[in-house]
Amino acid sequence: MALIDLIFAKKFSRELTAAQLREFAAAAADPATPDYQLAAMLMAIRLNGMTERETAELALAMAQTGDMLSPEVDGVPVDKHSTGGVGDTTTLVLVPLVAACGGKVVKMSGRGLGHTGGTIDKLESIPGFRTELPETDFLRIVREVGCCVVGQTGELAPADKRLYSLRDVTSTVDSIALIASSIMSKKLAGGARGIVLDVKLGSGALMKTMEDTLALARLMCAIGRHSGRQMAALITGMDEPLGSQVGNALEVEEAIRVLSGQVTGPLLTVSLALGAQMLVLGGNAPDEQAARMMLEAALREGRGLDRFRRMIAAQGGDARVCDNPGLLPQAAVKTPLLARGDAYLAGINTESAGLAAQALGAGRMRKEDAIDPSAGYILRKRVGDYVREGEVIAVLHHSAAAPVQKAADMLRGALAFSAQKPSKQALIRARIAPDGKETYENDL
Ligand code: URA
Ligand code: CA
Repeated sequence: MALIDLIFAKKFSRELTAAQLREFAAAAADPATPDYQLAAMLMAIRLNGMTERETAELALAMAQTGDMLSPEVDGVPVDKHSTGGVGDTTTLVLVPLVAACGGKVVKMSGRGLGHTGGTIDKLESIPGFRTELPETDFLRIVREVGCCVVGQTGELAPADKRLYSLRDVTSTVDSIALIASSIMSKKLAGGARGIVLDVKLGSGALMKTMEDTLALARLMCAIGRHSGRQMAALITGMDEPLGSQVGNALEVEEAIRVLSGQVTGPLLTVSLALGAQMLVLGGNAPDEQAARMMLEAALREGRGLDRFRRMIAAQGGDARVCDNPGLLPQAAVKTPLLARGDAYLAGINTESAGLAAQALGAGRMRKEDAIDPSAGYILRKRVGDYVREGEVIAVLHHSAAAPVQKAADMLRGALAFSAQKPSKQALIRARIAPDGKETYENDL
């Protein structure tokens, strides 16, 4: 069937067969296919939707346009994916902790884009750290250390790479079916047999309502199960940065402080909750309760930080950063943001807060932009804290050339103050278990 016939079918909301979806994915991966036909198909899907079955078949078909890894490790290879947030460094905390408890973590991560950070950029702030490794090295490190974190290569789901860049310029990003199939195509190709999803909800998330967030989480779990993967998902809050440090080297430093037991709080809470799901899917723990106790013991005994040291060394990085974070890139200038009155910090527009970090140089607007690994900020106050006039709310880290006034205005503009103490939202809003059973915040 020619692509125009598939576009015709989707224009009239017809359901496509698995074979037709494979043709579409193959066309997307073929450089000879014109952009305008792919764009027309994307818009037809955006407007008319796809069934769960179609979405699952498309994700698998996109994965199969490139390399499909099947990691040979002693145990069940597990991965985790976050839909993206601000100060969201759970990967750096949970990957070594899960490995310390016997998990085999084959983690493929992305770079930051827009207001969200990316794990690969964070890790590359560690001097010498390599995120592009041949597959044989990747798997050897997983076998030896229990975990390895690498970037997604061009051969992973090339159909998605082409479609994602077209969606960006055709106003077709906001389709739950296209988002779910895009994310899951890369996860399926990555080869993990157990996949834990952290689907963010709130002002800094891809999805802003519980309804849409749950729909996305359910769909991604269904896609994974369709391809024989074990799936679990947590819906977690992104109504303020998860950690207190935002920016690449700053987030590595915070992860080290969490792993060494110096810092607790939401970043640790979400990392433990996700890590427990990974240990259960990996068959390393009989249930969530047992998994959590294993993770807490590993944290207490410093075994998570030890794994992080070993992973950094195996990936060519300077593992001394774990004992001396001063070896990470340091900003030349630190500028405090001072409170202009007495009030509670009532809320943070987290997307704007992420864009403020990007403006300082921590992130990129376009894929080809360079970043400053030392840039970002440290929040001294969290939502619910009382702030007095003149107190430091945040300290901005940046180079002498960075547009600090603009970034400071953006960060200040992201903060809402109130005379009343705000009520705090639960951090973990819902869970989808491997069998699809859903549990909501009051029962978690
Ligand atoms: N991340 C992806 O990889 N794809 C999307 O469509 C959205 C977020
Ligand atoms: Ca490859």
